Amino acid sequence: MVVSSAPGKVYLFGEHAVVYGEPAVPCAIERRAQVTAEERDDDRIRVRAEDLSLDGFTVEYGSASDAAPDVDVAESLVEAGMGYVDAAVEQARDAADAPEAGFDITVESEIPLGGGLGSSAAVAVAGIDAGARELGVELSTEEIAERAYRAELAVQDGEASRADTFCSATGGAVRVEGDDCRAIEAPALPLVIGFDGGAGDTGELVAGVRALREEYDFAADTVSGIGDLVRRGERALADGDLEELGRLMDFNHGLLEALGVSSRSLDNMVWAARDADALGAKLTGAGGGGCIVALDPSDGTETALKFTPGCEDAFRAELDTEGVRVEDR
Ligand code: PMV
Repeated sequence: MVVSSAPGKVYLFGEHAVVYGEPAVPCAIERRAQVTAEERDDDRIRVRAEDLSLDGFTVEYGSASDAAPDVDVAESLVEAGMGYVDAAVEQARDAADAPEAGFDITVESEIPLGGGLGSSAAVAVAGIDAGARELGVELSTEEIAERAYRAELAVQDGEASRADTFCSATGGAVRVEGDDCRAIEAPALPLVIGFDGGAGDTGELVAGVRALREEYDFAADTVSGIGDLVRRGERALADGDLEELGRLMDFNHGLLEALGVSSRSLDNMVWAARDADALGAKLTGAGGGGCIVALDPSDGTETALKFTPGCEDAFRAELDTEGVRVEDR
């Protein structure tokens, strides 16, 4: 049996603009998904998901004609929870050249599902590491990131950026520009997350920005403006200048709002953080709903968010410098 874990992430800067070749800076947070893999004597896969923001469920299926899982919850929930586990198992089997290997898999996640915190990437990364190790193969961090990216591509019909999976595999702050992903230096970051309990439709939001950018020059300028502030953000990170980082996060939120990807609940949470004297706050990920990230070394923002209408959950999550790791074996 091998237990591996991997962190979720927030975008400090650059979501949406990254789609047009601008750089973005995602950053791993101390909220993890943990996957336990235990090889079976047969070729079946049994998955138990404890808290993927779903009520716990268990599914069991074989690799042949009985592949459809037989469970008593809505199919879409099973698909959401299972797709990534399934793709991760395939990658682990491929890495170990053991296409028939069966597993008992348990997923335990502290990352809200679908809120833009990279829960699926964390499950894929931890699942590939645990599965491959259980079959006797130790993969490099780069290979886990590459295989997790391929797993996401398979589940998301070819629509996935490398940001989530690379960040989850390596930990820390990361710079992404096209296919170029690299780790960057960052100070300890006092991050606070607010979650509205919902999620935006990433495909729809990306399409909305594309249409706006084609119709209005201001939107194209806004996208390149986000690129400019990401480059300044990288310098502020390298200098450990939290005040400047916060200011740039505020600007980034304003520009995302101009692109039409914020929402009432995200704006409410951003303003609650600002009123509580956070150094800065912005939505994170695709927007439309989901999470905001604020920078605040004091308890102010977390407390304020807990009393903010539309905020379902608020928690502190420091930058996690550790990526995928073995928890137990
Ligand atoms: O909400 P998330 O974590 O899936 O992030 C989406 C980020 C976008 O830039 C909007 C899209 C992308 O693929 O980069």
